[in-house]
Amino acid sequence: MGGRLRSRSRSGVRARRKVLIIHGPNLNLLGRRDPSIYGENSLADIDAALRARGRAHGAGVDTFQSNIEGELVTAIQSATGRYDAIVINPASYSHTSVAVRDALEACGVPAVEVHLSNIHGREVFRHTSMTAAACIGQISGLGLNSYLLGLDAALAHVEGLAPR
Ligand code: DQA
Repeated sequence: MGGRLRSRSRSGVRARRKVLIIHGPNLNLLGRRDPSIYGENSLADIDAALRARGRAHGAGVDTFQSNIEGELVTAIQSATGRYDAIVINPASYSHTSVAVRDALEACGVPAVEVHLSNIHGREVFRHTSMTAAACIGQISGLGLNSYLLGLDAALAHVEGLAPR
């Protein structure tokens, strides 16, 4: 997608789309944590790639990481009215957190769930995502591309370009 994504406000001035990227627990260890599963990119590498992809779309990208469930809930809540979309890797909380799921449902901001590894090809407890049902879709197993495609999909959804 090469176009610049803007929404028209009442004044006719187009506002830049804004996407919040949320990373869950242990993703601060990327690069050192099981590189055979999660790859060699650090979290800073991933965030830099997402900001560059956002710029290519003409969209703003902010990033947030926490190891604490309640901080993830607060970040999701804070997206309401401030962001057009969320891209979230809830990490292990994907498999356990009713609180993160409820926040995603309540915030009214469309979210795409992403995973670096293919959660469906790993241990059985990772096959179920508690949080994915509160998202517009899930991308899993494509490493850094899971995030980049998640950002593309979130912006396409906001612009009404995504097939339904
Ligand atoms: C993960 C997959 C989860 O099962 C795991 O707990 C993570 C990372 C991924 O990106 O592949 O921490 O979300």
